[in-house]
Formats: sequence, C-alpha cells, structure tokens
Amino acid sequence: MKVQHYKATDQNPNLNDYDKVYENFNWDEIEKNFSWSETNKFNMAYECIDKHVEDGYGDKTAFIYKNDDEKSTYTFKDMQIASNKAANVLKNEAGVEKGDRVFIFMARSPELYFSLLGTLKLGAIVGPLFEAFMEKAVKDRMENSDAKVIITTPELVGRIPVDDLPNLEKVVVVGETDNNDQVDFNAAFDKASEDFDIEWLDKEDGMILHYTSGSTGQPKGVLHVQYAMVQQYITGKYVLDLKEDDVYWCTADPGWVTGTSYGIFAPWLNRATNVVVGGRFSPESWYGAIDELNITIWYSAPTALRMLMGAGDEVLKQYDLSSLRHILSVGEPLNPEVVKWGMDVFNLRIHDTWWMTETGAHMITNFPAMDIKAGSMGKPVPGVEAAIIDDSGNELPANRMGNLALKSGWPAMMREVWKNKPKYDSYFVGEWYVSGDSAYKDEDGYYWFQGRVDDVIMTAGERVGPFEIESKLVEHPAVQEAGVIGKPDPVRGEIVKAFIALREEYDESGELKEEIRVFVKEGLAAHAAPREIEFKDKLPKTRSGKIMRRVLKAWELNLDAGDLSSMDDD
Ligand code: WTA
Repeated sequence: MKVQHYKATDQNPNLNDYDKVYENFNWDEIEKNFSWSETNKFNMAYECIDKHVEDGYGDKTAFIYKNDDEKSTYTFKDMQIASNKAANVLKNEAGVEKGDRVFIFMARSPELYFSLLGTLKLGAIVGPLFEAFMEKAVKDRMENSDAKVIITTPELVGRIPVDDLPNLEKVVVVGETDNNDQVDFNAAFDKASEDFDIEWLDKEDGMILHYTSGSTGQPKGVLHVQYAMVQQYITGKYVLDLKEDDVYWCTADPGWVTGTSYGIFAPWLNRATNVVVGGRFSPESWYGAIDELNITIWYSAPTALRMLMGAGDEVLKQYDLSSLRHILSVGEPLNPEVVKWGMDVFNLRIHDTWWMTETGAHMITNFPAMDIKAGSMGKPVPGVEAAIIDDSGNELPANRMGNLALKSGWPAMMREVWKNKPKYDSYFVGEWYVSGDSAYKDEDGYYWFQGRVDDVIMTAGERVGPFEIESKLVEHPAVQEAGVIGKPDPVRGEIVKAFIALREEYDESGELKEEIRVFVKEGLAAHAAPREIEFKDKLPKTRSGKIMRRVLKAWELNLDAGDLSSMDDD
C-alpha cells in the first residue's frame, strides 16, 4: 500500500521545529525551567497553578468547564483558591496526610479538578477512577492500594464497598449526603479557608497511581512521581505545541492517564487555558464545544475521530471550527483515512502520539514540524531513545517487526507497580523497557504500530484486560468458563468478544447472552461488557488450564492457530 505523506506546511509559523528541538537536548536544561531546580521544593499542584499566580498571571483564564448549557470559567487565582479550599477540606475533615492514597471517583466536574489539585497540595497520592467502574473494579483498586479516602458523588457512592475496605477511613461526597459518617464536600468547601501551606516534596515522591489492565492478573497500580512533570511540561510545549494564548481541549477522562498527564498537568504547566467538556459524546456537543470556546488545540482519540468522520458533513457544516490550529490523537492506531479526513475537513494534519500509562508521557510522536507518514506513530521525542528489539534484547534492523522498547531512564517513567516488584521487574530486558507492543521502524526512523504482543484489548481507546472480564464472567451462574479477545472493529478499533462455555444445566439463548452482558456491565464496567458473545461447548486450554486466547482469536479471524502443542485436547 502506498503511504501518504503530509508535509509540515508553513501554515503556522509557530509550530515547533523538530530538528532544532533535538539539537543539544538534555533533561538537565529542561529542569532549569522550574524553580525547584534551585529550591528542591517539589509540588505538581504548585507548578500547575500557584506559580503562575506568583508570576503575575492570576487573572488569566486557567480552566473552562462546559457541560451542555452550563459553562464555568476560572482564572489561575480562582484555581489557587479552590484547590486550597479542597486541600483544607481533605486535611481537616478527612485527615489526609502526605503519602496517603486518595481516590477520586466521579464524572468530570469542576470539583474533580479542585480536589485532585487539593490532594496533590497535601502531598498525597491521587488514584483516579473511571465513573463507569462498578463495585468490583472499585474494590480491587482501593484494596490493592490501601486507599484511605475516596471522593465521590451521590450517584456513585453506592458502588463503594465500604465494609470490605478496612483501610478506608473517609468517604467524601460532592453533593447531597445525609450520612453522618460521610464528609459533605460542598458544605465544608464553603467554610474552608482560602489559604493553605503546600506540602513540599522530593522529586521521587509518589504523585499519581493509575490502575491499568494487563492480560493476566489483577489490574496493576502504576505509580508516577513528582519528577514526571519535567517530561509532561516539555512534551506539552513541543508536541502539543501549547502556547500561553491557546485554548486547549483534551477529550480524555482523568480515569485514564491521558486525562491527567495531558488533561491536567501538561496544559497547566504550560500556563494554557484548559477546557474540560463533561457529559456524553455526540458530534453536536463536540463540534459545538470547539466552535463556542474557540478551541485552538485539540487532543483526542481515533475512535472519537472515526465517529465524527462517520457522522458526515451535514452536522460538520453547522459549526465554525476555524479556531483549530493543531490536532493530535492517542490510544490506538490512527488510520490513514482518518488523517486524510482531517486534511479534508479541517485542512490540518492529525498528529498521532504513542505512549502508555507506564511511560507517563509521550514517547513516540509526530512532531508539529515533522513530515507525517499517515499510519505511522512518528519518531521518539527528544530525550527518549526507542528501538525494536528481539526477545533477548538485541536491536533489530530497519523494517523488521519486533518488540517496541524504550531505553530506561526517561523522567516520566513509572517508578513502581504498587506492591508488586516482580511485575515491575518483568517489564525490563537489560536496559530496555519492553512495551508489550510490536512494531517496526522504517529506514527514515518512523515507527509503525503492529499490535499488542499480549492479549490486552484496546476498545474505543480504553485498555481492558481480558483476565478481569473473564473473572467477572465466570461469576455468572450460567458460565462454566470464558475466554475474551479483542475483535477488530472499524469504529472502535477492537470490541470485546467473549467465548463462553455454559454449565450443563443452561441452554443457549439470546436472552442469556444479554443477561451475561448486563452482568459484566453492572458488575465491572460498561466498556468491559462484551459486545459479542459466542457460546462454545468447550474452550481451548493449555494443560495448565490457561485459556488460549490466541486460538480464540484465530477462530475469530479464520487464521491458522499456530503451535497447539500446549493445548489440552482430551
Ligand atoms: C496503545 C494510553 C497505536 C498501545 C496513553 C499501548 C497506541 C497502549 C497508540 C497503552 C498509538 C497508545 N497507536 N497504539 N498512537 N497509543 N496505543 O496505557 O497498545 O491506556 O501499549 O495509555 O495503547 O494504553 P494506555
């Protein structure tokens, strides 16, 4: 197939020059942008908010929150006060101290952002959770991290299994609560002091704990530290091309790493105006937000872009989207036809970016001033070294497919898998961090994504572990065993498909499929519920009893299942 190239045009002279940025790049120089390079006093929330107030930007708009017809706007000074108040609430009403794990479990709202910054001001570690999580998903994560406090809303509070979480000391509710054991956030916030003494930290102190799914075992807690800010700041500047006058919109929820690294930290470290749009996706609400708020930089994901593409030109024509000057994408492979669509409708290139929860920040991207090869993830960002390696850690030559790996030691790299040192260690082969993705590098140094080496499913940009879904499925009384795979899907990248062997006393039926689907949706999370279920008499398993997802995938795609020597076929 012929690769379409899109040249870096001169339509925007502000765009960062890839080669110039690369010259003499070193992390020590980047550190000098921060006052802590001299004082050694770290706090992410300070660098995002208070610093800008001190530098005279208190009146500049920091944050715009939009949800349907509701819109609120906050300056950096407003954000300083709101995060101070939230910190005081958490300290005085919930006893939060440095190093505690504080979970935030709510839909996007201004209070989510105030309390996240407030938690950081206390030196505590934030654990963001998707609002879609049901009881088991919430419990597994809070239990693993011994969470002390959770901040939530009346709609979600019932999903927190308080009695099963002995280390949980306080539930903070943003909204009505008549339970005296809970903290009424709004009431306490109104009375809280506007002043707060920020807790100063060390650069290696924990900051945020994102739980993410692997193919086996429970979700793992990926810990990032304060020092990650160096890379989040500089990639915000060079890759997102954030300038002070930009109105920037990252569409990701903070339950996902993109919604924190690039939905909170990068824009505010760069003093940009950060937009958050609540509510559900629709072409009207998304185009409407760009039009109404004059968004200049937009960071989204292939699934959403494909949905917008599918919604057609009629809806597009109703909005003025000419404020946009830079568009980026993350989370799944960005199809060449989406890049082409972007050129057609916005006259802008869509810049793919590749990274992971574990990497904390951008690793391989299409720089604004680079030529884009449609379908490629781009090249490593300055300060990051990537390679394609074989399973023993040897670098492979150009155009050979292998493991996408990164040389250990970039600033935003995870420091720990919570309480699981063996898991952390298993990511590394020698000096290389092995991503779990397979890819190749072409003769010009561009990287091309091929797939996940393991069985992790990427559906609509969300990473779901088959194991977690399978575990939930077998809790259903009708399910004997279950195997889950990602089935290629033109819109969502992949959909969750479950193969299920029923217990003898149950009969196959459409109603039972629906019942099982709802069971996962309500027990785990909506995005984890299988969109397709296929009943089988028996599932392929290894002799050790592990379901062979690779065989399920081969069935699905009508491929040869490969080496079946470990299969138990009696
Ligand atoms: C996939 C998301 C293709 C990949 C920030 C990776 C991508 C996983 C891209 C991490 C991309 C992310 N092209 N695939 N541009 N970006 N991925 O941890 O498989 O939710 O390993 O972090 O998403 O997902 P995670």
